[in-house]
Amino acid sequence: MITLEQVKLFKNEYCEENQIIIHLINSNLQNYFLESILDVGCGMGDIAYACWKNKKAYLIDTNPIEKEGSVYHDKHQYIQCDFYKFYAEDVSTIFVSHTLQFIDHNLTKLTLRLQLLNPRYIIIIVNENQDFLGKLVRWVKKKYPDAHPEEPLKKDIPNYALISQLSFDTQLVCKEFSQLAEQIRYMMLIPVEDDLDLLVNWLKQNLTDPTINFKQSIDIYEKNC
Ligand SMILES: C[S@@+](CC[C@H](N)C(=O)[O-])C[C@H]1O[C@@H](n2cnc3c(N)ncnc32)[C@H](O)[C@@H]1O
Repeated sequence: MITLEQVKLFKNEYCEENQIIIHLINSNLQNYFLESILDVGCGMGDIAYACWKNKKAYLIDTNPIEKEGSVYHDKHQYIQCDFYKFYAEDVSTIFVSHTLQFIDHNLTKLTLRLQLLNPRYIIIIVNENQDFLGKLVRWVKKKYPDAHPEEPLKKDIPNYALISQLSFDTQLVCKEFSQLAEQIRYMMLIPVEDDLDLLVNWLKQNLTDPTINFKQSIDIYEKNC
């Protein structure tokens, strides 16, 4: 589990990925976002707010919504629930932005759920895990066996074809290596009880600054006719 506070800290302080995602959706991808949109693990709801003002959307998250300061458009419905408990018959686009690692433990169960919701498009944003991030993911999986890093989908979605992949660069910028290690804990679901000293030392040995450049991909799947 991660908290809304952790999501806000990562997105507002250390990584500008949502600004880039919002820009890419608004400039290139609106045609794939058909009503009703299902935003799985919407976090702060900032992407929905900036991109789908006039589109009906279900924003679901296991975390409670912030009572104060939340801004949602009239056509947006926030529902606190688990993805596997959500159903609506009018979902046309499913959007999964950095939430795959929370719902991909059983890929058969995942693909069955996606098919049950039966959208025209499924749009998944994931880290590509190439270059340094790829090396880090491999190291984390070896040293922290209970971690579960975000990784691209390892299975085809039956009855869906991958029709487009849009790659973009982003950065995770921290002031201290200990901060960077905490953000990697968040990204890779390293259990809270696992000590991060080992990771801090590895990062110091492998980086000159507490900054990581990495690539992400927006993968668009369309239902076969
Ligand atoms: C890394 S955050 C991404 C937030 C948002 N999609 C974004 O890109 O800014 C992952 C979110 O998924 C939520 N989450 C985790 N497991 C979930 C589940 N089973 N069903 C719905 N939401 C879930 C978390 O509470 C968290 O807000």
